[in-house]
Amino acid sequence: MDWMSLVGTERTFAIFASVSNSHITHSKYASLKLKDAIVDTIRDQVGSRPDVDRREPDVSINLHIENNRATVSLDAAGRSMHRRGYRLDAMEAPLQETVAAAIIRMSEWKGDCPLLDPMCGSGTLLAEALMMATGTPAGYLQKSFGFEHFPDFDAWAWSAHRKTIDEGIKPIEKGLISGSDIETEALRNARKNLSRLPHGDMVTLTKADYRNLAPFEDGVMVTNPPYGVRLSGGMKIEDFYKELGDFFKQKCSGTTAFVYVGKPELLKTVGLRTTWKKELVNGALEGRLARYDMYAGQREKDRLRREAQEAAAASTETSTPPSADTEAPDQTAG
Ligand SMILES: C[S@@+](CC[C@H](N)C(=O)[O-])C[C@H]1O[C@@H](n2cnc3c(N)ncnc32)[C@H](O)[C@@H]1O
Repeated sequence: MDWMSLVGTERTFAIFASVSNSHITHSKYASLKLKDAIVDTIRDQVGSRPDVDRREPDVSINLHIENNRATVSLDAAGRSMHRRGYRLDAMEAPLQETVAAAIIRMSEWKGDCPLLDPMCGSGTLLAEALMMATGTPAGYLQKSFGFEHFPDFDAWAWSAHRKTIDEGIKPIEKGLISGSDIETEALRNARKNLSRLPHGDMVTLTKADYRNLAPFEDGVMVTNPPYGVRLSGGMKIEDFYKELGDFFKQKCSGTTAFVYVGKPELLKTVGLRTTWKKELVNGALEGRLARYDMYAGQREKDRLRREAQEAAAASTETSTPPSADTEAPDQTAG
């Protein structure tokens, strides 16, 4: 490999190794070997060597050894993309950004109806919904990428591409995405996190106990309620989930709710039939995402009835009355 052009002497580099089922059993040893090989090759060629920077290397090299076969690759992202960069202020036990993104994806929400997280915490679900609705890419806040240090990097093409992406980010209307939480501190964090994203100021945040919220009908609800630690007022966690089920039944007609829990057994206490349940791991937690479809509310029923009436009226207006010389349909046919 042409390490001189890939790394050179002016750029810093780091190796991230993983080993499995191989004669080499220590990833640190493996990465040290590759580091020495790169440094020695470059030093032999030009007499000087590049520095290693494990925290913020210009060039990140991945070494993966599995079944005694090694794959060496350059990391085009430069760092793990699961950290979006908007969440500098998080509460305890926040949802991973990627898990939140998966929840929004699995909800099939397309930005065409209101979305609410009534226990939004630091706002991870709201932020991912916002990025989805505005078309903001996951790496939007990342300042630099590994590929910018590739030998064939085309700075002009990249800046033109970035410009196209930036121009493609579309605004959203106020009221489309909203969140609430009982904790002031949580809302403060959510506001700060959202403000780092384009159009984050269009997300409505309210301090409220979700049980006191106005009815939320014909929308999509995504939420990640507490798992049982530190419930205010000494409430039992099972009762908390039962009340959540009551809230869905009484105030959320026509809404599809997605509830993500770290403890799957808690879903049993919601007391509503799930449309489906899916496994979704959040760090060490074997989480589950459950979907609940509430019956259509009166407003939705009225809208559907109105639409049906309008369609019927339109079809009567456009159909031509049969003329005198039109043959009457053959009643005996069929
Ligand atoms: C597991 S955390 C949510 C974490 C969030 N998804 C995030 O990424 O930061 C649960 C949240 O529910 C809130 N909460 C608990 N009881 C509530 C209630 N009755 N009404 C509204 N929010 C409540 C807590 O303040 C906490 O922020």
